[in-house]
Amino acid sequence: MRIAQISDFHFTRLSWNPFRLFSKRILGYINWLTARHNVFSEEILEPLPALLKELEVDLLLLGGDFSTTALPQEFEVAARFVKKISIPWTAIPGNHDVYTYRSYRNKIFYRYFKNKREPIEHPADFFTLAEHQIEVKRLDGTYWLISLDVARATNLYSSRGHFSEKLEERLHEVLSLIPSESSILILSHYPFFQTDVFRHTLKGGEKIEAILKKDPRIKIFLHGHTHRNTIADLQPSGFPLILDSGSCTQTDRASWNLIDLNSEGCRVENYRWKQGWKLSRTEAISWTR
Ligand SMILES: [Fe+2]
Ligand SMILES: [Fe+2]
Repeated sequence: MRIAQISDFHFTRLSWNPFRLFSKRILGYINWLTARHNVFSEEILEPLPALLKELEVDLLLLGGDFSTTALPQEFEVAARFVKKISIPWTAIPGNHDVYTYRSYRNKIFYRYFKNKREPIEHPADFFTLAEHQIEVKRLDGTYWLISLDVARATNLYSSRGHFSEKLEERLHEVLSLIPSESSILILSHYPFFQTDVFRHTLKGGEKIEAILKKDPRIKIFLHGHTHRNTIADLQPSGFPLILDSGSCTQTDRASWNLIDLNSEGCRVENYRWKQGWKLSRTEAISWTR
């Protein structure tokens, strides 16, 4: 099964509606106009739909931060882009998709990115991201995908996510429902480890870390948010393979990952933007835990 991991689009549309500006959004605009608008490019996404089709990708994992300030116009353009790809997808929100308390409360993200539900055939199929912040999808062979929504609206100074106690409970429940011989992928916007800037990190990340270490069925932990591509096989340290897609629109280091799953492990290819999407690195990984 071939999966593409793509994240951190940061589609941006400005709205001068005073009601929309009277929020954290004004900070997002100032940040965009002064620092970020030269950094991201929507144009480099244009060749992607054809390339993903040519590569015969079976499933897209869309890792969040579709928008910049959770504005409906931004989600509309993001949804239009995803529609162009015409490959089944699973999407999770990032912190920018719940940028204001209002967008978080009203679950604006889920109006545009509701994952397609399979008929309920297994107790784990009951959970939905919008309602339970966790969702399960059966993939080919013995593989299962668990998607997490850890994005929370925050104050002006923070972009922290939250792996809450409730979500921890649900993740334990879901893991107990998945057969013991399975291999599991976990998709989260945030990494679980604490990165250099505390106010960008995941509250409760250490709880995910403990779960990953304890459950050898979890083979891959996929995330975005850092805008730094990573392929890190941490199996020798008792963790899964860690895949960070990087941002697909940040021009100086735009990237995404292609993952071929097989029964013994996987092959990961990293694509980078260098006046076109170019294959930059390939890693073959065998499951050893
Ligand atoms: Fe991002
Ligand atoms: Fe993010």
